[in-house]
Amino acid sequence: MSDVLLDGCGRRIDYLRLSVTDRCDFRCVYCMAENMTFLPRAQVLGLEELYRVASIFVAQGARKIRLTGGEPLVRKGIVGLCEKIAALPGLRELVMTTNGSQLNKLAAPLARAGVRRLNISLDSLDPARFRAITRTGHLHQVLAGIEAAREAGFERIKLNVVVMKGRNADEVPDLVDFAIARGLDISFIEEMPLGEVGRERGESFCSSDEVRALIAERHALIDSAEHSGGPARYVRLKDHPQTRIGFISPHSHNFCATCNRVRLTVEGRLLLCLGHENSLDLRALLRRHPTSDAPILDAIHNALQRKPARHEFSSSGEVQVLRFMNASGG
Ligand code: 5AD
Ligand code: SF4
Repeated sequence: MSDVLLDGCGRRIDYLRLSVTDRCDFRCVYCMAENMTFLPRAQVLGLEELYRVASIFVAQGARKIRLTGGEPLVRKGIVGLCEKIAALPGLRELVMTTNGSQLNKLAAPLARAGVRRLNISLDSLDPARFRAITRTGHLHQVLAGIEAAREAGFERIKLNVVVMKGRNADEVPDLVDFAIARGLDISFIEEMPLGEVGRERGESFCSSDEVRALIAERHALIDSAEHSGGPARYVRLKDHPQTRIGFISPHSHNFCATCNRVRLTVEGRLLLCLGHENSLDLRALLRRHPTSDAPILDAIHNALQRKPARHEFSSSGEVQVLRFMNASGG
């Protein structure tokens, strides 16, 4: 069997997004319903199982692993897991997406463990709005977390903003200036219809083109052909070359043709595409074959033949995938 992962469309899969928990201390309006039931422990992959999956993928040529959640930093033992995964030979980068609420204490240990880059969610600079969007979050805690991350020596830190009209779209230029002042990158994300979150999404939908126009009112923009191995398109600012601005536009700019990733949910379902229910139950295989990786490799190679050519989100905000984002691995 080949030791690189190719899907049925000939795309090389070298990026694994690994969800380490479905739990989170926030309840962001675009991600969760107000009252969520989380998975019982037995249904969640153990730390050893997570490490095993990571090592299998790295042995098959995965170069990048992103740990996501839920909120990865609420998982006990996360720093130790990072250390082990970061040491896998062949892995180029271990990165993490976090809400930042615990970075004040964990940024330095994560950097020491070998996490190279962080994506930190920051949807508003106004404490009351931040609270309304996250339902339970405190802005000052996340701002302190961002400062701790800046001091911890990560290669890059990127802020992630889900843009919603009527909630934070008017803050786009201020968020850009916040990133510039701190030498951070920033990405603006179109909201995706994952899970029934108890509100209409269509009416707050803000396209990346609209976000770009808001930024252009304050800054001269230069298109950039750069990639970070993800679906974002980047622009640079003429007067602030150190900050990259990304647009993640699942609706308005389909990026499926260059898709290089798969996701593992915390229940061990290998999701072949965020926009489809198509998946492989790796948890069952891991538990049935505790000492032999061969049947697992076989199943992964076969499943990749079924990876869909593209997702099919529409911008009406209609829910087409019933999974919530916290169960999907960001
Ligand atoms: N649409 C777009 N992005 C989302 N995120 C969570 N839910 C959604 C959604 N429905 C993003 C947040 C966070 C990351 C974990 O996932 O920006 O940064
Ligand atoms: Fe938690 Fe991230 Fe979902 Fe917000 S978007 S509820 S921080 S997992």
